[in-house]
Amino acid sequence: MTQIVMPGHTNGPAGVLFGGVMMQWIDVCAGVSAMRHSRGGVVTASIDRLDFMVPVRVSDIVILKSQVNFVRNTSMEVGCRVETECPNTGEVRYTTKAYLTFVAVDNEGRPRKAPPLELLNEDDKKRAEQAALRRVRRLQAAGKINNG
Ligand SMILES: CC(C)(COP(=O)(O)OP(=O)(O)OC[C@H]1O[C@@H](n2cnc3c(N)ncnc32)[C@H](O)[C@@H]1OP(=O)(O)O)[C@@H](O)C(=O)NCCC(=O)NCCS
Repeated sequence: MTQIVMPGHTNGPAGVLFGGVMMQWIDVCAGVSAMRHSRGGVVTASIDRLDFMVPVRVSDIVILKSQVNFVRNTSMEVGCRVETECPNTGEVRYTTKAYLTFVAVDNEGRPRKAPPLELLNEDDKKRAEQAALRRVRRLQAAGKINNG
């Protein structure tokens, strides 16, 4: 997903992008991956820690890339990587990354099963293994499980 930073996305005179706008873009980009994978509606269950490493300014181009890392039963972890491109120089800066958990839901908002994830290469397998560990830590922190 590609966005351009407009003045209305920023905090005013300093012209720096609001963190909340970036979070919305991340939620949409990652949500589309979860919807495409599960072929239906999803809700955001959680967003892991988010660090903004460089300021993003008016006219910058923001490039968001997401992929489903792991599917359990009804939940999916989606990773989203964000880069910022200067339109004048083409310089690309790694800006932030986020891990989001989406739950596939039916028309009544009840969790529904998501299809298993096909792991096509070693990178996919490594991502899935790491996501499974994050899932356990995340649910423990949320007080949802005592073990994996
Ligand atoms: C997410 C939601 C559907 C989960 O419903 P629930 O009744 O807790 O359902 P379950 O306990 O059966 O859990 C369903 C799945 O969600 C996962 N889940 C629940 N809470 C979670 C959390 N805080 N973080 C990560 N995953 C979570 C469970 O691990 C489970 O995954 P699995 O089926 O793959 O094992 C429900 O809490 C909800 O609708 N929340 C509001 C979502 C929303 O409005 N999002 C927008 C925010 S503005």
